[in-house]
Amino acid sequence: MTKRTIILATIIIFILGGLGLILYGQFFSGNGNGQELGRLGEIKKRGEIIIGTDATYPPMESLDEQGNFSGMDIDIIKEIASDLGVEVKFKNVIWEEIFNAVKNGEVDVIISAITITQERTETLAFSDPYFNAGQVIVSTKDKEGVINRPEDLGGYRVGAQVGTTSEEEARKYTNDLSLVSAYENYDLAKEDLLEGKIDAIIIDYPAAVGMTAKDKGLQIMGDIFTQEFYGIAIQKDQQELLLQINKTIRRLKREGELKKIEEKWLSQ
Ligand code: ARG
Repeated sequence: MTKRTIILATIIIFILGGLGLILYGQFFSGNGNGQELGRLGEIKKRGEIIIGTDATYPPMESLDEQGNFSGMDIDIIKEIASDLGVEVKFKNVIWEEIFNAVKNGEVDVIISAITITQERTETLAFSDPYFNAGQVIVSTKDKEGVINRPEDLGGYRVGAQVGTTSEEEARKYTNDLSLVSAYENYDLAKEDLLEGKIDAIIIDYPAAVGMTAKDKGLQIMGDIFTQEFYGIAIQKDQQELLLQINKTIRRLKREGELKKIEEKWLSQ
């Protein structure tokens, strides 16, 4: 063999080797096989989408008398599942655990009246906003004319669900952090309010309507004082799943279905 042939042969071997590596890489990381299916692929394969929600927040999500998940969010997510052609399975997750549940893959999606915030979008991907919510104060009738705006809350004992944007607002407006009580859910906050252990609750408007509708002793004080948009959250880097979720949200908006679902749950 001449020196030239040896060099040529070496070059060819390197090129073939390189090509082989590229093909190998493509095959094993490729879309559509093995663990690289992506969440959307897994959901379709399973025939079921697993939803995490904190079902203590009527009329957004709660358990009805038969123990079924029901509410505005539930109707929306059922539409998404039906567009995907899969069954829907709900997991009741306490709010404090809800973000972890989707991050660690225990559930595929969380829908739970979740406000899209800057901080949350750093670790999770959010759908298009599907509802414009805002927060209000709920208190007892005797606070009428006394607590009417968040600025009036200074010195009062205020309750909210732990880890919510409402807890943040409560911290902002009571001038003493020891006056803020953070509850696992709003049923517990409501009990304390009715027993006079706290003076007011901060909560999203739709849930405030739900809370005050059931308890005539409670009322919404003043106006909505924040602007927040609800979104459905999934793990980051699940672009295909996000696309499908947004497709349904856009369809529901376009067809007027979203408005109908809103009216069904909010005008009662
Ligand atoms: N919108 C508020 C937040 O995102 C409260 C949501 C509470 N939702 C619930 N299902 N408990 O922080």
